[in-house]
Amino acid sequence: MPHRMHIFDSHAADVVLGYVRERLEMPEAPLDFPGADAELRTALTGLINDEGTNVDEVLRRYDEVLSRAVISADSPRYLAFIPAAPSKAALLFDTVVSCASLQGISWLEAAGAIAAENQVLRWLADLAGMPTGAGGVFVQGGSAGNLSALAVARDEGRRRLGNSTARVRIAVSGQTHSSVHNALHLLDVEPFEVPAVNHRLTGDALARALEQDAHPETVIAVAATAGTTNAGIIDDLAGLSKLCRERGMWLHVDGAYGGAGLLVESERARYEGIEQADSFIVDPHKWLFAPFDSCALIYRDPATARRVHSQDASYLDVIHIEDEWNPSDYAHHLTRRARGLPLWFSLCVNGVNAYRAAVTAGVDMANRAAAEIAATSHMELVREPSLSIVLWRRKGWTLADYQDLQDRLLKSQTAFVTPTSWQGEAVGRFAFIHPNTTIEMVREVIDACR
Ligand SMILES: Cc1ncc(COP(=O)(O)O)c(C=O)c1O
Repeated sequence: MPHRMHIFDSHAADVVLGYVRERLEMPEAPLDFPGADAELRTALTGLINDEGTNVDEVLRRYDEVLSRAVISADSPRYLAFIPAAPSKAALLFDTVVSCASLQGISWLEAAGAIAAENQVLRWLADLAGMPTGAGGVFVQGGSAGNLSALAVARDEGRRRLGNSTARVRIAVSGQTHSSVHNALHLLDVEPFEVPAVNHRLTGDALARALEQDAHPETVIAVAATAGTTNAGIIDDLAGLSKLCRERGMWLHVDGAYGGAGLLVESERARYEGIEQADSFIVDPHKWLFAPFDSCALIYRDPATARRVHSQDASYLDVIHIEDEWNPSDYAHHLTRRARGLPLWFSLCVNGVNAYRAAVTAGVDMANRAAAEIAATSHMELVREPSLSIVLWRRKGWTLADYQDLQDRLLKSQTAFVTPTSWQGEAVGRFAFIHPNTTIEMVREVIDACR
């Protein structure tokens, strides 16, 4: 007799899949609200008990209370941070990854899933212009991708210095993402701060900073950004890649948000030099329309990553067969969900042109929103939009006014818009990812700023 938890319950399946279907059928996910701790605690009270709670009751409390206290990142009205906009196909296939317990640890256990994930990684490597030998793995998110890549950069740098414990540094700028700083802290690597030029890390500025440094040989890598989170700025990848080649430094490109912009014809030239990257990340859960959580991490020479990340254990000897691709060897993880498959499925069924169009829609919307703002008398642009991000100012406002706007917009379910800071000033920010965001939605925010 199978255990009762492992017997198919058609009622539970109907209830849960019905909920899933309802969510998928929504033309626009509701934004919903921040949560109140007391109300959430009450909703959760008693649900976990010795005998279990009826599925209808658990789902009811989830639907009526818990889910309403999650601001939907996939609403086209979600314009804060970096939104999400998973395609319907990607969402559907995510349920397959869960239902089939699809893992992607080793070729021995999961060759089919890994082959499909690698097909997508190859597509991304081609998009960046990386060589045929490039490859990697899907990890949980950009932070995990940056950490894993920079661990390899550090060890490669030390190897080149001939000292496996050398104090080394990695070049960053003031715009580098916080996850890179966290990674450097965890790796016990000091940041080598380079003054940005017009908010970009450039090859010339790095060369100058190295010239003025007493120990430039200890700067073994550069963490460049292709699309800063705050403003969508792309570093001088052409200049940085040239300098990295000349000096034997590792070039890491953090394209967690902006890597998808490679699909946009008008933006393409700004990425020149990315093809020289030693490691590159892009998050499908950001601008490539995959569900959470997914970051594609690609190395120019995957052997460098294997040297750092392969785990040795007697019970794992069986998976370490030459020429077999084990995703667990390319990042700081072992067990992993085959989280590249939702993107793979969606790319297969929708085609690359749909992706090009949907990413381009974000850039177009940023330009349209910027034009609308520039045409008002009460608002102005802080800077020209870059990729799909617009920084704007409501004349005369302080941080408290932007926070009040955030609250008002959420209350009316108009939009989710959070302030940021730019050169010490509180400003407004839009990040456009969802291709179904309309200019009318943006106008509602502009009107609310009057
Ligand atoms: C440029 C950049 N790098 C890294 C990250 C971290 O990615 P994640 O949140 O998936 O860990 C982000 C997140 O917004 C980002 O924008």
